[in-house]
Amino acid sequence: MNYRHAFHAGSAADVLKHVVLLETLDCVLQKPKPVFVLDTHAGEGLYRLQADAEADDGIRRLWERRAEWPVLARYFEAVGRFNGTRLRDYPGSPLLIAGRLRADDRLVAVEEATAAHDALQQVLRSPHSQIFLGNGYHALKALLPPRERRGVILIDPPYERVTERSALLAGLKTALQRFRQGIYLVWYPIKDKRDAERLVDAVSALGENLCVELLTWPPDVKSRLNGSGMLILNPPWGLKKKMGEVIPTLAQLLTRDGTPRYRVR
Ligand SMILES: C[S@@+](CC[C@H](N)C(=O)[O-])C[C@H]1O[C@@H](n2cnc3c(N)ncnc32)[C@H](O)[C@@H]1O
Repeated sequence: MNYRHAFHAGSAADVLKHVVLLETLDCVLQKPKPVFVLDTHAGEGLYRLQADAEADDGIRRLWERRAEWPVLARYFEAVGRFNGTRLRDYPGSPLLIAGRLRADDRLVAVEEATAAHDALQQVLRSPHSQIFLGNGYHALKALLPPRERRGVILIDPPYERVTERSALLAGLKTALQRFRQGIYLVWYPIKDKRDAERLVDAVSALGENLCVELLTWPPDVKSRLNGSGMLILNPPWGLKKKMGEVIPTLAQLLTRDGTPRYRVR
C-alpha cells in the first residue's frame, strides 16, 4: 500500500476530523488529571498544501473568512499556529494533539510507513510525545490501558485494504477489553452509504457513542468521497452539545451543492 495523505491534507474530511478531535480534547482537558493520547495512524504530521488538491474543498474554502465563524475558532487557531499570514501548511493530527497537551499529558503516535514516520520525526518535537514505527492496531493491545487511566485514542486508517474494517473492529474490541473507559475516535469515509452504515452499526454496538457525519455531496452522487464521519465511543461530557453548535455551521460552509447535510446523534 502506498497511501500518501499529502493530497488529502486539509480536505473537508480532514476539517471535520480535526474539529472533532480538538473539541474532544478541549472537553477532556477541562479536568486537571493527566491524559494519554494514542494516534494509531499518525501520518507525516505537517503537509505543504498543494495546488489543485482536496484542501480546495476544505480548509481553503474557509481560511480567508475564518473571522466570521467564532464557533470554529479553536480549529482555526490551531491551524494558524503553523502558518503566517498566508495559508501554506496544514498540520496533521499528531501536531494538533501535541499543541494542546499540558506538561503531564502524553502522546504516542504510531505510523506504519517508513517515509511518513521519518517525516513525522522531523516535525514532532515535543518532550511529551513519542513516535513509533509500526502497526497502529498492535499498539491498541501493547499500549492500553495507559498508566494515566484517562485516554483519547484516534483511529484514522486510510481504508485502502479490504481487511481494514475487520482489523479496525478487532482492534477496537481488544482495546475496549483492556481499557473500557477510553474515549475512542474513529474516522470513516462515506462513499457507499451502506458500507458506512454497516461500520457505524458495528462500532456503535460496542458501547455508548456519538456519531457525527458531514456530507459534502448528496449520497447518490458518484463522487470520490461524498462525506465522512467520526464515531466517538464514550464521548466526554459536553461534546454532543458542542457538536450541535459547530457541525451545522461546518456543513453549511463545506457543502458542494448548497444543501447542508449532517448528522449529530
Ligand atoms: C489518513 S492518514 C493519517 C492522517 C492523520 N491521522 C491526520 O489526521 O493528520 C493514514 C496514515 O496511516 C498509515 N497507516 C496505514 N495503515 C497503518 C497501520 N496499520 N498502522 C499504522 N499506520 C498505518 C498510512 O501510512 C497513513 O500515513
